[in-house]
Amino acid sequence: MRRPVVMGNWKLNGSKNMVTELISGLSRELQGVEGVDVAIAPPTLYLDLAERMLGESSSNIILGAQNTDLNNSGAFTGDTSPEMLKDFGASHIIIGHSERREYHNESDQFVANKFNFLKQNGLTPVFCIGESEAQNAAGETETVCARQINAVIDSFGVEAFENAIIAYEPIWAIGTGKAATAEDAQRIHASIRALIAEQSQSIAEQVIIQYGGSVKPENAQAYFSQPDIDGALVGGASLDAKSFAEIAKAAAKAKAL
Ligand code: PGA
Repeated sequence: MRRPVVMGNWKLNGSKNMVTELISGLSRELQGVEGVDVAIAPPTLYLDLAERMLGESSSNIILGAQNTDLNNSGAFTGDTSPEMLKDFGASHIIIGHSERREYHNESDQFVANKFNFLKQNGLTPVFCIGESEAQNAAGETETVCARQINAVIDSFGVEAFENAIIAYEPIWAIGTGKAATAEDAQRIHASIRALIAEQSQSIAEQVIIQYGGSVKPENAQAYFSQPDIDGALVGGASLDAKSFAEIAKAAAKAKAL
């Protein structure tokens, strides 16, 4: 049985005040909730504050981040390394988000290299994949996801997916309110797991595959009741403590059965 993982991607949102309030709210809302791993990825600048807040509230919330560099130190102006992320207690690192692929021209290979570098540093990649609206309309969803995953497998082997997280996020569903249906998402998740199973049945069975794209308290339960949807990567709704906690609770409940 896979333990569900619900992660909040705060994107470029935050202030000292907001981080303090959101983490206090989350710690309160999630008290006593079991059977789900809950993670948050604040902007890098707020990791220090987030780490201290989580420590003070003795929360089980896992700290994450939204990106990594491909080096641990040196002349790389403006970047943040896995060593630094670890220094602030961040373990689950989002890579390959469609916003970075698009606005920063990150290629499949570049993202695959980040995946490998995180693993080398003992961190958990939260590896985002997903198709555009046009690719979806053209029936290319499975092909696009397979290409993105194979970039990792071809360079680093299927073993790279051991203890890693995949987040299937159809680009057209991100921040649009136009979520994929639970049935469509399940079909894609099953195809992703099958692709990995071609190389390793055991890794396919243990790898966490999250759905992302307009997940809300209202639709969360439908996703989590699908056998191959093991959690969610949540953007907008993760900025509200109550909504995010409700999504986490829905995962715990659905997967406890
Ligand atoms: P959303 O974002 O929940 O606001 O659609 C999801 C994501 O981009 O990870």
